[in-house]
Amino acid sequence: MSKKVGIARAHTNIALIKYWGKRDKDLFLPMNSSLSLTLDAFYTDTKVVFDDSLTADEFYLNHQKQSEKENQKISQFLNLFREYTGERTYARVDSLNFVPTAAGLASSASAFAALALATATALGLEISREELSTFARRGSGSSTRSLFGGFVEWDMGTSSADSMAHPIDDASWDIGMIILAVDTGKKKIASRVGMEHTVQTSPFYPMWVETAAQDLKEIKAAIAQRDFERVGQLTEHNGMKMHATTLSANPPFTYWTADTVRAQDAVRQVREDLGLPAYMTMDAGPNVKVLCRASDMERLVNGLTEYLPTEQVLTSLPGCGAYTLSDADWQESQGTFSRGGDHD
Ligand code: DP6
Repeated sequence: MSKKVGIARAHTNIALIKYWGKRDKDLFLPMNSSLSLTLDAFYTDTKVVFDDSLTADEFYLNHQKQSEKENQKISQFLNLFREYTGERTYARVDSLNFVPTAAGLASSASAFAALALATATALGLEISREELSTFARRGSGSSTRSLFGGFVEWDMGTSSADSMAHPIDDASWDIGMIILAVDTGKKKIASRVGMEHTVQTSPFYPMWVETAAQDLKEIKAAIAQRDFERVGQLTEHNGMKMHATTLSANPPFTYWTADTVRAQDAVRQVREDLGLPAYMTMDAGPNVKVLCRASDMERLVNGLTEYLPTEQVLTSLPGCGAYTLSDADWQESQGTFSRGGDHD
């Protein structure tokens, strides 16, 4: 009997310049390059065991055996590594999601980044992080960026081989993020479906692609200069443009709810009242994320909780890139999970 084991942790990330649209659905090649901030507070731990006594791949999330459909997604992902390395055995995958229920944050980014690193570790695959991100990409595009910490760019590339993420800056210059978790239910339109519909039907879409490239160039310059306000302005404008493409799709749709708009109003009000820079961005769901200075976070949170329930206001500092865990770390992680720590 032979077993090959790998365990890894990856943090979630929030895009400041959004990935929105694929030019190749099968290879997960994006229409535009994107840039994100990795968050310290939310992560996924994953253990992969290739085991020659297994007769099929098995996937457990938060100790629950997953449906055949979920299982198949994981199997297909593992197949990429099996094809690359010649590995022939099946694997058991165990994942623990440490995303507080209230955060309502999509976990596919941290999930596939952790799975990619755990699988590569189990199989002894010696490739660079950048190259590993081309594997992660095939699970979920945004997961490319979760392999790295701080500000991370996913370069759209010219082919599957060079559409990869790389770190830009460790974001250790007074950066924070507030999450306004107005709705924690499952999203109604998956990002995958929403972006495809938008690419196909929004007359604004070509303009999105064009201006996202310009936004990316400018935000990288602003990050290099540590110009927080410029980074924030570009973040807010880019996110709004992404959502404008959904409103202009045919038929139109939106990820926002009345609570989203209320939370956006609260951000505008609080930044005006306090005179502090704070910039919002939304993803394929109703929650609002606010980029701010870490040193302003407490005052902003106090201001925001005058408008929103306290339990909806969460905070995070920038996080590090994905890393491998030891067996002892994994035991500890399971302990934290079963004590009902921060997870859903
Ligand atoms: C709005 O990475 O979830 O959050 O590649 O189809 O799995 P797939 O999509 P996904 O899309 C994320 C979209 C976004 C913006 C972003 O994270 O860049």
